[in-house]
Amino acid sequence: MTSQRLLQPPEEDAPNTAADASFNCKVVSSAEWLAYFENNKKNKLPIVWPQYLDIPFSVRVPIIKSLQRFQVGETGDGTHLRQYARTLNDSLYEQCIDLFIKEENGHAQILARVIELMDGYLITWHWSDYAFVTMRHLLGLKTEIFIILTAEIVGKSFYKACADRLPEPCLRAIFSDIVLDEMAHLKFHWSFMRKEMSPCPRFARWLIYYFWSAVFLGISGVFVVDHREALRALGRTPRAFLHECFSQFRQDARPALHLE
Ligand SMILES: [Fe+2]
Ligand SMILES: [Fe+2]
Repeated sequence: MTSQRLLQPPEEDAPNTAADASFNCKVVSSAEWLAYFENNKKNKLPIVWPQYLDIPFSVRVPIIKSLQRFQVGETGDGTHLRQYARTLNDSLYEQCIDLFIKEENGHAQILARVIELMDGYLITWHWSDYAFVTMRHLLGLKTEIFIILTAEIVGKSFYKACADRLPEPCLRAIFSDIVLDEMAHLKFHWSFMRKEMSPCPRFARWLIYYFWSAVFLGISGVFVVDHREALRALGRTPRAFLHECFSQFRQDARPALHLE
């Protein structure tokens, strides 16, 4: 894995489908993930921020509203996740989790700057973040990772819509880079689930899959209602967005649970 990106850039529908599929069936070691996170951090190029963003008011307002919520979500210090990770007695995985949280916090800083450049303000609390954090802490590490994966899929799809449709080239580049990070996060957590779920009996994995699918649909359904104005501004219908999210979920969840 070394310094290379784990996946292709945002046009993920086009190339690399085979590589993607084979990746889903592979458990990547903590050492390899650590090398990935360290290299990704080292290879990040500084963002050249513009003085002004030329975005119509009709797009700017709903996008700010959505980005404010994402910014809160990316800000967490990951205390529980770090505590859970410690129980695995895998110091390399703990270091990966640390770098993963720092990468998410880096996204929070970028989003904060984007919001500021669009003349928006930052919020410190939102009910959706509170709900996510509460669900993540219900049980142990696996539950937390399941809920994080749900958030990662929805987040990646939203950032991709920003990368595809925002009128400013600078923002499209920024969101494309975030999408690449999020795609790697997805693979990181799927890889973990694949390793952890392998000892479970097959019927239990199917039960988890159906239960998780229902939770996923519920959460993404609430998301499209809550972010409908931004999705509309980005040219995505709620139905198309849900379809995109659930396709990603189905593509990755079954291999992660050893169901294909
Ligand atoms: Fe993120
Ligand atoms: Fe992420």
